[in-house]
Amino acid sequence: MPPSAMQAIHLPAFNLSPSSLVPSSVPTPQPTADEYLVRITHCSPQHADILHANGKHQNVHAKRGHVHPPFILGYDFAGTIEKLPSSNAEGSDLKEGDRVIGGRIGAFAEYIAVPRSAIRRVPDELDSASACAMHGVAVSYASVVEVARVKQGETVLVSGASGGLGSACCMVAKAVGAKVIALAGDEEKAKAMRRDMDVDAVIVNAGDWIQRVLDFTGGRGVDAVLDNTGMVNDAIRCCAYAGTIVILGFAARGGVMEDVKMNRLLLKSITVIGYRYGESGRRFPKQMDEIWDGYLKMLTDGKLKALLYGKYEGLSSMGRALKDLEERKVYGKIVVSVGEEAMRPKL
Ligand SMILES: NC(=O)c1ccc[n+]([C@@H]2O[C@H](COP(=O)([O-])OP(=O)(O)OC[C@H]3O[C@@H](n4cnc5c(N)ncnc54)[C@H](OP(=O)(O)O)[C@@H]3O)[C@@H](O)[C@H]2O)c1
Repeated sequence: MPPSAMQAIHLPAFNLSPSSLVPSSVPTPQPTADEYLVRITHCSPQHADILHANGKHQNVHAKRGHVHPPFILGYDFAGTIEKLPSSNAEGSDLKEGDRVIGGRIGAFAEYIAVPRSAIRRVPDELDSASACAMHGVAVSYASVVEVARVKQGETVLVSGASGGLGSACCMVAKAVGAKVIALAGDEEKAKAMRRDMDVDAVIVNAGDWIQRVLDFTGGRGVDAVLDNTGMVNDAIRCCAYAGTIVILGFAARGGVMEDVKMNRLLLKSITVIGYRYGESGRRFPKQMDEIWDGYLKMLTDGKLKALLYGKYEGLSSMGRALKDLEERKVYGKIVVSVGEEAMRPKL
């Protein structure tokens, strides 16, 4: 039986300082007849969690949004099935104790109640921490393989390449046989990325960096840009004729969108595609299942390997995790271990 109360990063109101967040005791969620209760073992913070916490994400919109205080922060989690749905305990393809990964608001907690559509079984080949890290970046697989349709031998540029989405875009593009140029915020991070990431070039986003991208391609430009930071005008300059730009996020824009030089798109016959992973999954669930089949195959074949940053044990380390993300210290993914295991003193 799950306890009646649990620890969680609970927000009674939006919080402009997510790094100050600490766990508090809240009632353990009561699953509806159709929901699974999952005991969370790991959760993985991302840029969007910070925007959710401080009320700046588009999901917090008063009418169109679905994240409104009070709420438990967090989206990506790994855990074990604690309780099957009462309406379908016999017919479920999952059983108690099975390892799952999932995405749902409320993940920075010891328990979460979710519908079947929010969780997937963790393949035996994957440990739960890696699976948790990789859950949140399935969007990168989808954007490289299904949206940009990157092919072997092509060259791609990834902005925000140190980040969760960016580092996974780099890995997936390498796995399909592309050459990858990773854009880094500063030289210190670039050094770590050259050491720990399998990419063909790491270029620091400063000075004449666009010329260095063009030089890398012999002046031709890149076939595709995976843009996580919001730099479409620069991406146009980096692209080859008939290149593709996939807009994934605006991490560097502080909420201010850029005006795009439309004539430059025409002159270079460039395709710009926006990709909203969550909504695409809600509208096209069959396509999402196919994306996950391909993604899990790449993971279980060992072609992708989670790049885990730092050590974060227990929900009490979430404030530090969010601070490190905000301060752009991270490359790869933070995973926070949750529950008794994480809190037990190391002897
Ligand atoms: N399209 C979708 O469906 C979807 C899904 C999830 C997330 N997103 C969005 O995708 C973007 C990336 O998400 P993520 O979780 O990968 O973020 P992340 O882990 O925080 O990485 C973002 C990267 O962008 C770079 N960056 C440059 N300027 C920045 C700034 N002012 N603040 C923060 N980072 C900055 C950083 O690298 P350097 O320090 O090396 O520059 C950082 O590593 C976010 O905008 C997020 O909201 C989109």
